[in-house]
Amino acid sequence: LPKIGNEPNLHYKPDSPERIALVAELKAMEAAAPYYVPAFVNGKEVPASGPQSSQPMPHKHASTLATFSTSSPELTSEAIESALAAKSDWENMPFSDRAAIFLKAADLVSGKYRAKICAATMLGQGKNAWQAEIDAAAELADFLRFGAQQVEQLYTMQPPENAPGVWNRVEYRALEGFVFAVTPFNFTAIGGNLVAVPALVGNVVLWKPSPTATYASWLVFQILLEAGLPKNVIQFLPCPNGDDTIKLVDRAISHKYFAGLHFTGSTHVFKSLWKSIAQNMDKYLSYPRMVGETGGKNWQLVHPSADVRAAAIQAIRGAFEYQGQKCSALARLYVPRSLWEAKGGFQDILIEEINKIAQGPVDAFENFMGPVISQFSYDKCISYIEKAKAAGGEVIVGGTGDDSTGFYVKPTVIVTKDPRSVTMVEEIFGPVLTTYVYEDEDFEKTCTLIDTTTDYALTGCIFSTDRAATVKANNLLRNASGMFYINDKCTGAVVGQQPFGGARGSGTNDKAGSMSIFMRFVQARSIKETF
Ligand code: ALA
Repeated sequence: LPKIGNEPNLHYKPDSPERIALVAELKAMEAAAPYYVPAFVNGKEVPASGPQSSQPMPHKHASTLATFSTSSPELTSEAIESALAAKSDWENMPFSDRAAIFLKAADLVSGKYRAKICAATMLGQGKNAWQAEIDAAAELADFLRFGAQQVEQLYTMQPPENAPGVWNRVEYRALEGFVFAVTPFNFTAIGGNLVAVPALVGNVVLWKPSPTATYASWLVFQILLEAGLPKNVIQFLPCPNGDDTIKLVDRAISHKYFAGLHFTGSTHVFKSLWKSIAQNMDKYLSYPRMVGETGGKNWQLVHPSADVRAAAIQAIRGAFEYQGQKCSALARLYVPRSLWEAKGGFQDILIEEINKIAQGPVDAFENFMGPVISQFSYDKCISYIEKAKAAGGEVIVGGTGDDSTGFYVKPTVIVTKDPRSVTMVEEIFGPVLTTYVYEDEDFEKTCTLIDTTTDYALTGCIFSTDRAATVKANNLLRNASGMFYINDKCTGAVVGQQPFGGARGSGTNDKAGSMSIFMRFVQARSIKETF
């Protein structure tokens, strides 16, 4: 394959060509909205039918970006049969031809459709321009390009030894059946990756996008088709949350040829899917592969030796960029009393800097923060803030919201004296950061506390200039996160640089953006040929 690197980020400075293009795209997209997003089954768009669901714009929820119908269980069955019929041609296509489709799709994402896919992610998922750029443009292009490269590495791994007169080889075939991809709202790139990973190694895929990311997901799918993906390899099945999704899912996971789940979403949903799949086990031809990235309660530990300003600024970025809705977002912060209470110290920097944060519509480029995704999410954030206050937590900044036009929750910091209080333990998925101030001499105890406070283990970070302390934390917190950052925030993993995934209740830790995830969607076949 051609040599690849990470897609460089554009910066959208005033009057830059990318800013001009994005502004024009945002205007045009809004003017023509709402868009009807069809299901795509058996090589064609399915006409609208039944009651319509909508994807509102979270920054002004009276406006609708997209509408879509429910994908019924019958349509799901048709999608499965159509995918299975396409399987043989797809998996037998030479890898270079498959890879070329994804490399071309990456170029379409980073070139021709960059402004469009960013605009759809901004209007539909509430990201500002920068957050959309690092997701829908750069990370998506990176997943597609690095994915192709990682599959090439898999296919060319060290072959087995041979005895005289014998030729041993191992081939990595697609799974026998279809892969079901259930994708999240918070990263357009993750949606694309969850379908690209199994497809790159020759699998056919059923794609159920998040209802709150329907339009951007549809654009990604259209880009894959334009890049040359055969029409039946991925079947696209939009569906509103609730009973309709349960029926769709039941149909998919009841099928004999259900071969794998590629999931990003909540821990609760992944566990219940796993339980249903276990109950269906006798129906399947093969043991399905279960790959999931789920919830988190990500942490930042500050050592007394830390650079206070760097630690505070990175805590703000980790907790509040994209309104705390990254799977990796910071939710629990541990600061030593000496740094917290010093004049001009951690607490002062936090309050001063957070009060400067501009929040508002996603198409106003000065806004560092926008809305949360939905009314449900807004209500959840506000209710957790109230719960924290009722439990004795002190809100030192933020603590309120306004959902009259968009779902705006202010960046909120709660200080708790109880390190196991509700907002230290339960996932909120919004801009609510809970802080526990520890006594300086309790650094090791605090490591143990972090390790034992929740069952999640997605991301964590330490700020420290004391190497011995860093090593101690690294050892004590070995199982407390799948991603560990030293002197950097706990968000922002880059494809090809930091393989991404969490342990414990945060996922199967199969590391998106690395070769290891592809191993989950192939079956190895050993061949011994004697001459
Ligand atoms: N790549 C995203 C992050 O690490 C998920 O924040």
